[in-house]
Amino acid sequence: MSTEKQANWTYTEGLPVEDDVLLRARDRSYELGVTPVSTGIAAALTVLAAGSKAMTVVEVGSGAGVSGVCLLRGMGQHSVLTTIDSDVDHLRAAREAYTEAGIPGNRTRTISGRAADVLPRLTDAAYDLVFLDADKAGLPVYAEQAVRLLKGGGMLLINDALDGGKVADPAVREASTNTLRQVGKTLRSHEQLVSALLPAGNGLQMAVKILS
Ligand SMILES: C[S@@+](CC[C@H](N)C(=O)[O-])C[C@H]1O[C@@H](n2cnc3c(N)ncnc32)[C@H](O)[C@@H]1O
Repeated sequence: MSTEKQANWTYTEGLPVEDDVLLRARDRSYELGVTPVSTGIAAALTVLAAGSKAMTVVEVGSGAGVSGVCLLRGMGQHSVLTTIDSDVDHLRAAREAYTEAGIPGNRTRTISGRAADVLPRLTDAAYDLVFLDADKAGLPVYAEQAVRLLKGGGMLLINDALDGGKVADPAVREASTNTLRQVGKTLRSHEQLVSALLPAGNGLQMAVKILS
């Protein structure tokens, strides 16, 4: 990365000032070996949830709740976050973060299970936003499910879409990197979607389902 781009990235990631709720959730994330969204992505999630007036959101990969708190803070007052994680300890930590953030219990639906098993059980065209931040291997299936779950005008977000800089480097042929390249290509050519890849954090893939 050029020095100028690195400086822009460092500046942008350093701008958000996080409160104690998020800082404690970040600490619990590291204790559990979970990588939370970057500060820049965390701030972007709140803005995008607010800007899209999201009332129903699905998150894949609750972790210790950093991204969930950020989404919930942008979502409307009576909105509901459905968040899925295969690790019960992570879900427990995520619930702790939501409680500390003062989120009423009826605004979160935490589901323990593998995303590939849970997502097919969720209702078609019922969600305003889907955020994917779990295993890379499952992404093609999760992205396909997300398109089914989204309402017209709904937004799909994929964290770590640049895979720590590896997606942009054609010499890297790792399985996870190839999967991200393939998912990006699928979204760009999908007739129901408009999409953009932002170089915030480790890359934020965005797509909106065109109203049909
Ligand atoms: C990068 S962390 C999520 C961090 C979280 N979004 C945040 O910013 O606080 C990925 C999470 O995905 C979960 N996970 C991994 N594979 C999964 C799967 N197949 N189904 C559901 N959750 C999975 C892990 O247990 C972990 O908590």
